[in-house]
Amino acid sequence: MNAGHKIKIIKEDCLKWLNNCSEECVHLTFVDPPFRQGKNYKFFDDNQPEERYWNGVADVLSGVYEITDDGGALYFMQREKNIENVLRLIRDAGWVFQNLIIWKKKTSAVPSDIRYSKQYQIIAFATKGKRPRVFNKLRIDPPLPPEYKYERNNGLYLTDVWDDIRELTSGYFAGDEAIRNADGDRVHKQQSPVALLLRIILSSTLPGDVVLDPFAGTGTTAVVANQLGRNPISVEIDPEYARLIERRISNPRPADDVLKFYEYYRYTNNLKEIWHARKVPILAVQGRLF
Ligand SMILES: C[S@@+](CC[C@H](N)C(=O)[O-])C[C@H]1O[C@@H](n2cnc3c(N)ncnc32)[C@H](O)[C@@H]1O
Repeated sequence: MNAGHKIKIIKEDCLKWLNNCSEECVHLTFVDPPFRQGKNYKFFDDNQPEERYWNGVADVLSGVYEITDDGGALYFMQREKNIENVLRLIRDAGWVFQNLIIWKKKTSAVPSDIRYSKQYQIIAFATKGKRPRVFNKLRIDPPLPPEYKYERNNGLYLTDVWDDIRELTSGYFAGDEAIRNADGDRVHKQQSPVALLLRIILSSTLPGDVVLDPFAGTGTTAVVANQLGRNPISVEIDPEYARLIERRISNPRPADDVLKFYEYYRYTNNLKEIWHARKVPILAVQGRLF
C-alpha cells in the first residue's frame, strides 16, 4: 500500500457501517446501488418491493450526509426512469441539488414500440450546503465534430452531458478494463469505468480528501482515488467482491491506470495541483485478479 494516505476496505452492509462511523469525515461519495432490476446479487434482493428499496436508499443518502464535510459532494447514479425518486430522496436527505449529469451510453439502444429508446444513465450531483467546498473546472479535449471549421486551441469546459465515456456493462465493449474470471466472463456485471470515477473525483476533490463508495462492487472508486492520492473508503456487502477490491488495489493492472487520460484533461488550469503526481506502479502485464 502507499505511504501517506489511507485505504479502507470494509466488508459490511453500508447501512450498518453508516450507523457506526460518526468519526469519519467524508468529502465525496459516489452512490451506485443495485438498480432493482432483477439482477443476480448474492447479498442483495434486486427484486424487492419498490417502497422498501427506496427507503433503503434514502437511509444511505441520509447516513452519508451526516458524515460529509460542509460543501462535500454526492454523486448518485441511477436509471433515468427513476429521476423523480432520485431528486426527492436527495432533497429529503438535506442535499442541495447542483446538476443532473446525463451519461450518454455509447452502445446502441434497445428500440421500444411505445416510447423513444433509452440511451443514458443519470448521475445527480449534489452538495452539503449551497456551495461546493471544491469544484475544479475541468477542460477536456474531445475530437472536433465534423461541422466545426476551426481546430480548438485549448479544449472546452466539461458540461453536464458526458458522452465520451464508454460503459463496461455490455460484453464486447467492456474491453480490457472489465475484470474477468478464468472463462473470460465478467465477474461483476455493473463495474463502473475508471474514466467515470476519474472525472468525478477530479471535479470534486483535492489530494488528501476522503472518498467514500458505500456500494463498492469491484472498487473502481477506490482504485482511482488511490492513484490520485485521495483516501478511499470502500464498503461492500459481498465478501468475494471485497476481496476482489483488495487484490485490484494491491496488484494494479494497466487497464486501471489513470495516467492514460492525463492528456485529455491537459487544458485544465489547475490540473497539476489536482492530479496528484505520485504514480502507482502498474504491472507490465494485465494480471488476472480472479
Ligand atoms: C451496482 S454495484 C456497484 C459497482 C461499482 N460501482 C463498481 O465499479 O464495481 C452495487 C454493489 O453494491 C453491493 N451492495 C448491495 N447492497 C449493499 C449494502 N447494503 N452494503 C454494501 N454493499 C452493498 C452489491 O454487492 C454490488 O457489488
